Amino acid sequence: MRVILGITGSVAAHKGAFLARLFVKKGYRVTGVLTRAAERFITPLQISSLTGDECFKEADFFVPQTKPLHIELAESADLLVVAPASYNFIGKAACGIADGLLLSVFSAFRRPVVMAPAMHSSMWNSPFLRENMEKLRSAGVHFVGPVVGILSSGESGMGRMADPVEILRFSEKLLGEAGKLKGKKVIIAYGRTEEEIDPVRVITNRSSGKMGYYLAERAKALGAYTILVEGEISYVSPVGDEKHRVRTHSQMRDAMMKLSPEADVIIMSAAVSDFRPEARSEEKIKRGNTLELTLVPTGDILAEIGKNKKEGQVLVGFALESKNLEEIAREKLSRKNLDIIVGNTVEAPGSDVLDGFILDKKGDVRKFKGAHKAEVASAIFEKIVEFLGV
Ligand code: CTP
Repeated sequence: MRVILGITGSVAAHKGAFLARLFVKKGYRVTGVLTRAAERFITPLQISSLTGDECFKEADFFVPQTKPLHIELAESADLLVVAPASYNFIGKAACGIADGLLLSVFSAFRRPVVMAPAMHSSMWNSPFLRENMEKLRSAGVHFVGPVVGILSSGESGMGRMADPVEILRFSEKLLGEAGKLKGKKVIIAYGRTEEEIDPVRVITNRSSGKMGYYLAERAKALGAYTILVEGEISYVSPVGDEKHRVRTHSQMRDAMMKLSPEADVIIMSAAVSDFRPEARSEEKIKRGNTLELTLVPTGDILAEIGKNKKEGQVLVGFALESKNLEEIAREKLSRKNLDIIVGNTVEAPGSDVLDGFILDKKGDVRKFKGAHKAEVASAIFEKIVEFLGV
């Protein structure tokens, strides 16, 4: 397997060299690409001596070739690792700028990408960096670190590049998993539905769609054909192979019933409205005294999918409860004919972390306390892979 190791201008550049060595020791072919700023810290000779392979620098971009160098590199490698990834590199990559060899390789790279940010903590706290990282994350880029430690300024803070051993471990996991769900169709429904009271008012809930974002990220990373059924969200919209935007319960139901017969995996993480107004007022309802609304129940989409579930399909549902979570989740798992259910407490909507568990129909339980939704999404897919037997 071939890894492109990009090194950008940072005092941590020497750790990139160490990482090159770690990859080589594990039997990977490692091709280095240094940015102009990286060359102020380390040399191509140093990297190629460690890897036994070529190491390109910016000037090589302008050498006439039969095939453009950045395309050749992007098409021939299994993984692109940028370590260290500077503030500048992350910003340019997120904005689609390709004014150098490494950025051009990134622009053409269609396999997993790992970036290990390294910078001073005040740069790490920049809102622009956050926005740029979110953009890259939603396009499937993986970040490892940074970590807290001594920075080049001598101060201690967040921004130190992750340990190369950690970056290697993460990369190997990614390479091992990539393609595990290749050829499988995964549908993920997420976000909240809105039921209209009048032209401006709706009944809805606090779901942000974050869980769906992390589930979509995992599905893509595992190589699945990812179909997203997206309700209303207040977080970044994830990247999938197909995206169906819906707003109401009835639109979500129609989309799910149409798409699910073809799917291998169906994950229903949407916060669907259990009720809708019996009638929608055509006019905006005027201010007045007490207003009485009659709400009628909506159908349970997940239960309907469960009823029509085909042999071999894996169906995942969620349970959100204020009390007796585990007991109710068990009951929902069997009543709705699910394979896996994720239980979480009422604090979960909108939050980055959750307390809860993953329960499957064999009775296995895995509990979480204050776990990041990305970690939970990963664990859900571990279960899915187990059920698919791939
Ligand atoms: N769900 C659904 N259709 C609905 C309501 C919920 O498909 N009309 C799905 C959700 O996406 C979730 C699961 O059902 O995967 C459980 O949702 P939850 O709100 O916890 O429970 P309900 O099934 O609505 O049951 P109840 O509110 O009666 O506990």
